[in-house]
Amino acid sequence: MPDIDGINEAKQYYTDVPQTAKRYFLKGSDSLDWGMKNRLGRIFNPVSGKTVMLAIDHGYFQGPTTGLERIDLNILPLEPYADTLMLTRGILRSIIPPDTQKSIVLRVSGGTSILKELSNEALALDIEDAVRLNASAMAVQVFIGGEYEKETIINMTKMVDMGMRCGIPTLAVTAVGKNMVRDAKYFRLATRICAELGAQYIKTYYVPEDFETVTAACPVPIVIAGGQKMLELDALKMASQAIQAGAAGVDMGRNIFQSDSPVAMIQAVRAVVHDNESPEKAFDLYNTLKK
Ligand code: R5P
Repeated sequence: MPDIDGINEAKQYYTDVPQTAKRYFLKGSDSLDWGMKNRLGRIFNPVSGKTVMLAIDHGYFQGPTTGLERIDLNILPLEPYADTLMLTRGILRSIIPPDTQKSIVLRVSGGTSILKELSNEALALDIEDAVRLNASAMAVQVFIGGEYEKETIINMTKMVDMGMRCGIPTLAVTAVGKNMVRDAKYFRLATRICAELGAQYIKTYYVPEDFETVTAACPVPIVIAGGQKMLELDALKMASQAIQAGAAGVDMGRNIFQSDSPVAMIQAVRAVVHDNESPEKAFDLYNTLKK
């Protein structure tokens, strides 16, 4: 349709103003494609640069974990407070309402149980299903130093290749398993290998000593797992120290859903992660909300 007479002259092209492009807020992610950045931006809050992922995928190798026996009853009340749900496609399809506004990180590796060698995993989901489920990222276990180290690394690189084709980031989950020496030296090795081989972000455990060297040596964001249940204040201190040492958030499970008050705990974790609240003040918040 032609321009209406006279409107043409009124157009403003700002010919003297160069087009600007905002730098992407996440570490090491500026060269990614638009779809991948958009998905990462649904996991990480663009204002704080951080995320509170709620990890509820434990059942994929250990069955109905304490606190996850009834996800419909125990976990759905936490959903409003999480940035992201990390879970299997089985739980997603059977229990999570499809109208959720939360981003989804799908567990895509599996094939073993606590009864056998845990590192003997394979890819357990086709990328087409991740696309169908509108996943914001896909999580693969990588057992650096484990018996099936090479196989799990290759699982990850295959997922990275498929994810690049579809614009879905891959989250490498490292250092989970039995008998691991969990120190900064090991975590530097494990996280760096995953990043070098293409994972868009990494999940690992926190160690009090030198964790800032782990985040510094990893060119992409790191989120920390919560690990075994501890006292609420201790879990908040761990989350806070990890954030101060450069972590981009938490992917926490048992320390939230096994808490005396999971709804209060996830809000206290949010305060530490997104608002830089001190663990003590966040613990006060926990106690207030618990009542
Ligand atoms: C580990 O492989 C599981 O997939 C969990 O997602 C992970 O361990 C985080 O949960 P938690 O905070 O309970 O350690």
